[in-house]
This record gives sequence, structure tokens and C-alpha cells, in this order.
Amino acid sequence: MEIITLNDPLAVGKKTAEIFIKAIEKKPNAILGLATGSSPLPTYQELIKAHKNHQVSFKNVKTFNLDEYVGLKEGDSHSYRHFMNENLFNHLDIHKPNTHIPSVKHEALDHPEQYDELIKQAGGIDVQLLGLGVNGHIGFNEPGTKFDSLTSVVNLTPSTIAANARFFKNESEVPTKAVSMGLGSIMQAKKIVLIATGLNKSEAIKHLVEDAPNENWPVTVLKNHPNVTIIIDEQAASQIKK
Ligand code: F6R
Repeated sequence: MEIITLNDPLAVGKKTAEIFIKAIEKKPNAILGLATGSSPLPTYQELIKAHKNHQVSFKNVKTFNLDEYVGLKEGDSHSYRHFMNENLFNHLDIHKPNTHIPSVKHEALDHPEQYDELIKQAGGIDVQLLGLGVNGHIGFNEPGTKFDSLTSVVNLTPSTIAANARFFKNESEVPTKAVSMGLGSIMQAKKIVLIATGLNKSEAIKHLVEDAPNENWPVTVLKNHPNVTIIIDEQAASQIKK
């Protein structure tokens, strides 16, 4: 596990975008695993900039997002499909049918693990981007999630609902369920890049660095993966020894 500490979220975004651009240069039809939330926004800005500068094309790229809320109306502006279109896909030359978000349609919720099958059929994820929850979640795999879990319908913890309330009018509007790739699904990726910025992520980063893999801190599962890069800012790194 390589840890790269940089000054601020912008530097984290630049470095992370560089890794994704290199992956696409090496394999123009790369399969990318993507995340939503605040942490990836600087990375997405950098990818859009690089595309506009003709540095990278997403024409043959396929993407699979980690998760989607359950219970929102189709087209809701809080959905992760909306987030990804607005913050990334609409600004690239990617073909929308090549962008995948876990389906929350009634039929799909009966067999959410079919998403893992879809990823496998596409050839598996080459580079997976992850954010980090304050409680150590990756995707929406909350503390206690089994390390071998596949894509499933999950309940969000009160701490995750509170953390995500900033995107809604008030906390009561935040969905309590989501479909999320499992920890086992995430671990199938060939390479994983986790980004974390801000003081509120420093405790989870400390557990990632200091603990043996354990289900109380889901992110520690990454210690069992052979190709992981952690990119954090000074604030997120503030509880680890230099
Ligand atoms: C989002 C996701 C979550 C977030 C995490 C951090 O697709 O899977 O695990 O990455 O909650 O969110 P931010 O970046 O908003 O702090």
C-alpha cells in the first residue's frame, strides 16, 4: 500500500487524475470504477480539463460507479446518476451507455449481485477510485460489512446519513438505503486508488495505517489488496506518524 501525502485537495485531484489518464493512455478501452461525493470533484475537474486540452479521450472507456441511493424518484437531482452526468460525463466524449450506475429498478433490487456479473463480463475494473467515509466506509459498506460481500442493498448508518445531509434540504430527506458494490466486489479491481481529504477523515486514515484488516473499519480490507495507492492531503494525514 503506497501512501502519497500532498498539500491540499487540489493537489490530490491532480495526482489522482494523472493516474487515471495514464491508465487510459495505456489502455484506451480501460474499465474505470468511479465514486461520487465531494472528494472526487477536483479529480473530475482535472479529467475534464485534460479532455478539453485533447490530452485524453474517453471514447472507448467504460465506467462503473460504486453506488446509488434507493428510494429517490427517477431523475431526482440527488441521484448519483445525476451527480455523475453533471460533474463528469456531460463534459467528456464518453458514450453514456458505457457509463454504469447500480440499477435501483424494482427487478434489479431482487438481484443486485448481477452488477458484479456485468463488471466481470466487461473484463473487470482496471482502476477503481474510492472516497472514504468518516466511519471508514468505502462504497456504502458500513462498519460490520463482510469482507467478501458482493453488490447488495444496504442500510446507511446515522453517521453517513448525517454526513450526506449537506447535499439535501434537510437530514430527513436523505435516503436510508442504497445499492452498493460490496467489499468483495471492490477488491476484484486490478488497481485501487483511495482519496481522502480534510480533518474529518484523519481518524479513518489512522485506522487504515495502524490496524490489521478488521470489519469495524471497512477500509482496512484494502490491506489485503496487492495494488493500492492512498492519496491524501495534510489534514487527512494529521493523525499518522511521519
Ligand atoms: C460515494 C461513496 C462513498 C463516499 C464517501 C466519502 O460513491 O461510495 O463511500 O466516497 O462517503 O464521501 P465524500 O467524498 O463526500 O466525503
